[in-house]
Amino acid sequence: VTTAKFSHSRVQKMSSKKDKVSARAENNGDSDEEASGTSSFSIEFLSRYLADKLGIKGDDKPKEKILDEFNVDGIVSYIKKNNCKKIIVMAGAGISTSAGIPDFRSPVSGLYHNLQKYNLPHPQAIFELSFFHENPKPFFELAKELYPGTFKPTICHYFIKLLNDKEMLLRHYTQNIDTLERVAGIPDEKLVEAHGTFNKGHCLQCRKSYTQTWMKDKIFSDIIPPICEDCPGVVKPDIVFFGENLPEKFHKSILTDFSQCEVLIIMGSSLTVQPFASLIDRVPDNCPRLLINREKAGHQSGLSLFGFGGGLEFDQEDNTRDAYWLGDCDDGCVDLADKLGWGDELRELFKKEHERIDKEELQEAKKKKEAGKVKGEKKDTKL
Ligand code: OAD
Ligand code: ZN
Repeated sequence: VTTAKFSHSRVQKMSSKKDKVSARAENNGDSDEEASGTSSFSIEFLSRYLADKLGIKGDDKPKEKILDEFNVDGIVSYIKKNNCKKIIVMAGAGISTSAGIPDFRSPVSGLYHNLQKYNLPHPQAIFELSFFHENPKPFFELAKELYPGTFKPTICHYFIKLLNDKEMLLRHYTQNIDTLERVAGIPDEKLVEAHGTFNKGHCLQCRKSYTQTWMKDKIFSDIIPPICEDCPGVVKPDIVFFGENLPEKFHKSILTDFSQCEVLIIMGSSLTVQPFASLIDRVPDNCPRLLINREKAGHQSGLSLFGFGGGLEFDQEDNTRDAYWLGDCDDGCVDLADKLGWGDELRELFKKEHERIDKEELQEAKKKKEAGKVKGEKKDTKL
């Protein structure tokens, strides 16, 4: 089992370069190689030099075209033609923003731009284990604001649920900790919560396990941080912090899933956090990949910077299999579902499930109110 940990500093350096490049390319369509001082000659030379030294053979044959069209239509026709049953979905915070949960890195609305009130040394410190040991309060304050149970799944979540109902989903890999996949009904065996979940928690000192209800109770009663019942340790929800290992299930599943993947769909992620981001490179070379996102992402990863492949290829001349859909994930999923022939089913499921959740919440609130009244009446009689 690998012990890959989050390594965001290196990745972020690469991503900031990447963001700049894609923004410029979208604005004026010009090559920015000269502007950035990186000539294509030097990259090509370096790539050939390293390939030679490492004994990597360049493949000069024209690659076989996998998709008829590099867009949603191309992906849909591929799925239909090949009767694909092993689709992997990879998701990030963008699939939950329409539920009212902010993502991390979007300018203005992203969580990392809105943490001033916590006085952190830097925004990501809120998810760093070393800072948490020093001061766990900001994390729990934020957890209270973003606590699962307050939000409803989005069209994207129900799209993935339908993919599973139609026996087309091999696995859903999510970086999200909001548990909305579970609420939407995606079964545990089809779900890999790569960055953990609020579902359970542990004492950081003696490892005693705690339920979500126990933690929620403490956090919402302002007992922050929650302290272990057996020792003075802090109880932390099992979400993966920077500096922590990813769950065992992640490491186990990726070993067998990605080599059999028939189509990869990536939604709502900036693909900047490792090791999750480089999962896109683990599918076979002839596996089509679709990115549904507000911005292009993942088109340069790791070795792709040196021309060794890796990363989504939709902007490359010799692309054979990658497509993107730019815009809101919900709209992208509706488009995909419409073209697969189950758009109405998706809209219906979304409506029906939201009505069910609303009804349940109303009943829950009623029960609480009545319980409160009974308590109040008892108090009154005592008085
Ligand atoms: P990011 O905030 O880095 O990226 C979200 C991506 O989704 C961005 O590219 C947005 O443009 C896009 N986006 C937002 N809303 C969208 C919408 N409605 N439709 C389409 N696209 C949308 O979030 P992640 O990639 O998930 O780790 O971040 C990865 C990890 O970094 C998180 O799991 C988190 C964070 O540090 C932990 O907290 C452990
Ligand atoms: Zn303990």
